[in-house]
Amino acid sequence: MALLEVKDLEISYTVGTGSLKAVDGVSFSLNRGESLGIVGESGCGKTTIAKGLMQLLPKNGSISGGSIILDGRELVGLGKEAVRRMRLKDIAMISQSAMNALNPVYTIGDQLIEGIQAHTSMSRQEAYRRAVEVFEMVGLEEKRLKSYPHQMSGGMKQRAVIAMALTLSPPLIIADEPTTALDVVVQDRILHRILKIQKEINSSMIFITHDISVVSEICDYIMVMYGGKVMEMSKTDSFFRKPYHPYSLGLQNAFPIITEEMDELISIPGTPPNLLTPPAGCRFAERCPFAELLCEQKTPEYAEPEPGHLMMCHFPERVEEFRDRSSHTASWDLVRERLIKRMEVSQS
Ligand SMILES: Nc1ncnc2c1ncn2[C@@H]1O[C@H](COP(=O)(O)OP(=O)(O)OP(=O)(O)O)[C@@H](O)[C@H]1O
Ligand SMILES: [Mg+2]
Repeated sequence: MALLEVKDLEISYTVGTGSLKAVDGVSFSLNRGESLGIVGESGCGKTTIAKGLMQLLPKNGSISGGSIILDGRELVGLGKEAVRRMRLKDIAMISQSAMNALNPVYTIGDQLIEGIQAHTSMSRQEAYRRAVEVFEMVGLEEKRLKSYPHQMSGGMKQRAVIAMALTLSPPLIIADEPTTALDVVVQDRILHRILKIQKEINSSMIFITHDISVVSEICDYIMVMYGGKVMEMSKTDSFFRKPYHPYSLGLQNAFPIITEEMDELISIPGTPPNLLTPPAGCRFAERCPFAELLCEQKTPEYAEPEPGHLMMCHFPERVEEFRDRSSHTASWDLVRERLIKRMEVSQS
């Protein structure tokens, strides 16, 4: 049985008098010890999925459909107390705003010990020993437990936040852009540390990032999101060998794998759709170099061009042509011209 089974998940936010579906029919599963990378541009719903799993949505957000089964237990609709017990112990999150996860008025050690004691029957002394252990795992010295957040560098604070997420060896760790605020060298070191620890404690991991090259290095599976929907999902090696969706092809141009030769970066013209008024057909149609009338009218079904490799596009059989054309700047220039023309028409 999979550790995590997410089915047809829908998460909505109320905005003014309207409602916005930030996550729209997302399904995936994850086995013990496996890692899933969720990628996609800003605003496509990555953090919303993470917060939905943690049951940490803001007041105007709610799970409006679907189910989340963790280790055989339905999380949607759990009561407050059950959710509190679940956090840290069953799922821990290293958040995008990790620095805000630390309380400035307590020492890091006190915060760790409090977290441990809230979920276990450990004495303060036992909890302290566990705190030292997880500090060692992330490469921080014991004496740092006495530090307040402001006495530590950005990299140290990030490691402290990771340590906090690991204290109870949760079966599922969600890391939402855990290193964006740090410099590249520290980023790399911390990523590898998270990965090593995840393997050591055999946790499953959901790793959220803009940068698909990071996923190629560290995740077993990849899920590409766009406008609240999953555009493509597969094993990571299958994806990087043979991406299918035009959006994925665009992302690969914009974030090339470092080890591969690439003459120039090609960005995808335009921006993701406004989800208060989502497009009628394929969410990506407006920015897709290969879109036809059908794409603007009808949301595609999922196709499975290879076993276990899912993609949401009307034309899976034209992928060879798409792969070839998407590597030329001219294909994306046409999109840019099309978008400008539409804007002119709508303003006139
Ligand atoms: N509290 C909120 N109230 C209303 N809308 C929200 C709220 N939080 C997020 N959204 C909207 O939900 C959508 C998904 O946002 P989300 O933060 O999940 O994206 P993301 O993929 O994590 O983006 P980023 O890469 O910038 O972190 C966006 O359209 C965003 O504007
Ligand atoms: Mg986010």
